[in-house]
Amino acid sequence: MKTRVLQVDPESPSAETLAEAASVLARGGLVAFATETVYGLGALATNPSAVSRIFEAKGRPSFNPLIVHVNGIAQARLVTSNWPRVADRLAGKFWPGPLTLVLPRSAIIPDVVTGGRETVALRVPQPPVARGLIEHLGQPLAAPSANRSNRLSPTRAEHVLADLGGRIDLILDSGPTTMGLESTVLDLTSLPLRILRPGPIGPAEISRCLGGRTPIEFAEQEIAEPGSESLASPGMLRVHYAPRTPTLRVDSAEQLATISWPRNAAVIVIGSSTLPELPFGLHVVRLGDPESASQKLYETLHDCDTLNLDIIVIVMPPDEPEWRTIRDRLVRAARPWTG
Ligand code: TXA
Ligand code: MG
Repeated sequence: MKTRVLQVDPESPSAETLAEAASVLARGGLVAFATETVYGLGALATNPSAVSRIFEAKGRPSFNPLIVHVNGIAQARLVTSNWPRVADRLAGKFWPGPLTLVLPRSAIIPDVVTGGRETVALRVPQPPVARGLIEHLGQPLAAPSANRSNRLSPTRAEHVLADLGGRIDLILDSGPTTMGLESTVLDLTSLPLRILRPGPIGPAEISRCLGGRTPIEFAEQEIAEPGSESLASPGMLRVHYAPRTPTLRVDSAEQLATISWPRNAAVIVIGSSTLPELPFGLHVVRLGDPESASQKLYETLHDCDTLNLDIIVIVMPPDEPEWRTIRDRLVRAARPWTG
């Protein structure tokens, strides 16, 4: 299959391009498009064979459910069997935006989307391209991140093409995404509410929106091997979102001094640690504050992957709330350095 790439203006996408992409989707095709977080790989959510093609293209295990992208609360209600007041509050405040809500699904959503679960994960993306695509389709759009299973999420169309070229129909290239890390996934089906995947919207904001009285917890870090089907959210697998290059993490910059460096290596310093003396010629990238680190982390790792390095070493940021999402992704992308 030849993957077509269409350039599209991120602010005012042409109606013609959106209509063309929507018609590919309506015929059961796969279209990658940018959201504010990462590029998604879309298929018509109500068409089981189109959705199965997502799993094939990504090599994604069938038990790992997909996020359904809708154009607003009205469409969200159609794909859920219960729309509680908390959902209304949170959607009213954070949609469009990087918050995914897990709710009981309605019969419109086929089993293949949810991996057979009785719940569906939903969100409304913000960018005009993503919104316009759903509007033109007139139907919900199932879309996981547009990468091969267990690889890094893409923040540019080039990343999608490199990973999925030849396996999908179309990529809408509207430039880099603005946030750079995947949405927060929040389970509303029981109390306490559970954050299944930390993301750009944190527990404090969610709690404030609900008046500060609703208990919220983080899902336990589940240490499971790929293949386990018992996970609350299968995206919680360890060593997920990983670069191709062997990638290690250290908790403090001093540990860098004890590594015997191969010839081609990169160090990514997240936070403001002072570095020890390092060998000449090492690539050093610094991502100093949580916002720019979120925006640039995947892009930096994708860039490192193109350099044919022997190793990437990441200096972890401190274990503090503002770094939680980044630490979560780093723990999945990198193995601990054990000396
Ligand atoms: O920012 C994002 O969320 C991006 C863009 C494209 O929207 N999407 C994304 O999708 O990251 P994906 O498939 O890579 O991650 C979806 C996460 C996975 O951890 C999955 O297990 C979880 O959401 N998930 C989906 N449906 C679920 C459900 N019914 N119950 C629990 N977790 C669910
Ligand atoms: Mg993903």
